Amino acid sequence: DKAGHKHFMSKEIAEQPRAIAAVLDAYLGESGAALALPAALDVARAERVLLVACGTAYYACLTAKYWLEQIAGIPAEVDIASEFRYREPPVAPGTLAVFVSQSGETADTLAALRYVQGRAAQIVSVTNVEESSIAREADLDLQIHAGPEIGVASTKAFTAQLSVLLLMALRAAEARGALDAAALADRLSALRTLPALVTAALETDGPLKSAAAEVAEARDVLFLGRGVMFPLALEGALKLKEISYIHAEAYASGELKHGPIALVDNTVPVVVMAPRDALFDKTVSNMQEVMARGGEVLLITDAAGAEAAGETVWRRIVLPTADPMLTPILYAVPAQLLAYHTAVAKGTDVDQPRNLAKSVTVE
Ligand code: F6R
Repeated sequence: DKAGHKHFMSKEIAEQPRAIAAVLDAYLGESGAALALPAALDVARAERVLLVACGTAYYACLTAKYWLEQIAGIPAEVDIASEFRYREPPVAPGTLAVFVSQSGETADTLAALRYVQGRAAQIVSVTNVEESSIAREADLDLQIHAGPEIGVASTKAFTAQLSVLLLMALRAAEARGALDAAALADRLSALRTLPALVTAALETDGPLKSAAAEVAEARDVLFLGRGVMFPLALEGALKLKEISYIHAEAYASGELKHGPIALVDNTVPVVVMAPRDALFDKTVSNMQEVMARGGEVLLITDAAGAEAAGETVWRRIVLPTADPMLTPILYAVPAQLLAYHTAVAKGTDVDQPRNLAKSVTVE
């Protein structure tokens, strides 16, 4: 049942405020004023965190690395499951290993989990299916409570995974004394505004639909982001190529001049994801390098960022201003909507893109 939507993907994009609220309900305790992750989650003694996944779930892990390092001060490493399992790397003592998988059945992620059994201090899974192989074989499973995701391109599972991983980072910060009670309370009250912020982010639908009509004509699209926006740029490029079949690549903004700028001309739209944070000015200078070469910039930012960037930018998509900790979850929404509307404009099969399966149980 598509609940009045043309595609499951658009229904699932629209469901995100509710999906995120479900995560907060599950892990914030009754009053919403305290973290209520299972006591068994042993972040207090962990010396480092290792996160392993595939595809969109891998980008959720990359985002979590920034949170774990910046909010909790805990070293975090991220790996692609299919690389990790065959590399057979040493697993340092005191490693908390986290496996993220919507389906809970991805063969490479499951094999990576089995590899760390007996090596990691604790194995935690973050899945959407309680009865799945990955959830059952982990020491502890954290459900993302997103409800069934039918569209092959992952949307609400991604933002629900991010929400759970952010709560995990906050729990680690609390356990390790990186945030005192007052600072944690501030973070939690910001977090409680997230479903409403995501609802507001859905209002970028109209402007993105209009931009997508032109993006649909492109052969290549570049996505740029710095800091925590880098994994979001990767996710935006993956979504676009999966469902619209347009070649898209993402780079950390600072890497632009180390190669990819050679691609930029007036046929390559460049999507820049940049809230007005501490890194904004650096990203704007990368954006100007693109514009000087004729590149058409679609800037996804907030009101202050849109104003600072000025009117010469091809398109400005304005999201609500938010706590920097929340921006990855918020900026996922326009990345999804741009891919969705571009695919619709091209007439591709949005919910069942060619060559892709919802659950990748082959290696
Ligand atoms: C992208 C997408 C895939 C999955 C990947 C992992 O939109 O859906 O990249 O994220 O196949 O799947 P799970 O999370 O089920 O392990």
